[in-house]
Amino acid sequence: MTPRVVRREARAKINVFLRVLGAREDGYHELESLVVPISLSDVVTVEPAEALRVEVEGAAELAGEGPGGLNLALVAALALADACPDAAGALIRIQKRIPVAGGLGGGSADAAATLHALNELWGCDVDPATLAGMGEHIGSDVPAMLVGEPVLMTGRGERLAPVACAVLHWALVDLGFGVRSPDAYRWWDENGARTGPDPDALLAAAAGGDPAALGPLLFNDLEAPVVARHPAIGEATARLLAAGALGAVMSGSGSSVVGLARDEDHARALAAAVEGTPVVGPTAGGG
Ligand code: C5P
Repeated sequence: MTPRVVRREARAKINVFLRVLGAREDGYHELESLVVPISLSDVVTVEPAEALRVEVEGAAELAGEGPGGLNLALVAALALADACPDAAGALIRIQKRIPVAGGLGGGSADAAATLHALNELWGCDVDPATLAGMGEHIGSDVPAMLVGEPVLMTGRGERLAPVACAVLHWALVDLGFGVRSPDAYRWWDENGARTGPDPDALLAAAAGGDPAALGPLLFNDLEAPVVARHPAIGEATARLLAAGALGAVMSGSGSSVVGLARDEDHARALAAAVEGTPVVGPTAGGG
């Protein structure tokens, strides 16, 4: 029997490293990134309704809008409805906890969870590869969020390979403002287009669960250009390091910053020292 309400966790992600290789003709940038889901999540529930509708529960500033002012979950629902003869109306409820435009993939996670949840509610049986294709059109991070496991992301974000990453503990600092991805990438162009190192040693440290080795290797090529416009981000990484983080890095195009801890207790202590939140990642995905 088709369930009448389907509930999905929409996990945030962090970029353990983000390497920008160059600008492309289509306006995107070629990148390479280790993307891991973390314990911070929104909750998406879907249930039958007359029309397609999204309700965001949580602070109004967390509502989040996609292209043309549409919530990404609604964009996702419309894309699936197009591809599914059994599609009907649905009420999509999002309990928002992930900061919007914080570099944590919140909108993309909601879109991915909505695709999975409606696929189940409507009994569409759309296969994972087709869902990933839809996701790619919704946003560069959506295919990775559909997987819900650590992935090595390349291309503009659509090429994904599963990758080993040990469970690590972090302190997350939400700076309370967003950075638009197009701005961050443009600033990277304007600020000399610098590309970080080959990530082999970093990937080995992440796979082996060696936070002491991993800490100094964390990097994000968007960080310097974004920090140049938003010094508060640089101050947050400095605070994390001063409090004893093994390494600290901006996630995605910012503004959120994560500090790497030795273990769970250390993550709690770091978070307390910088008014952040302890998180763990990777965690099992909601996908
Ligand atoms: O795909 P998404 O809608 O998330 O991308 C938002 C914007 O971020 C793009 O329009 C582009 O300006 C920038 N971007 C980029 N290279 C990527 C991903 C995003 O330049 N790989």
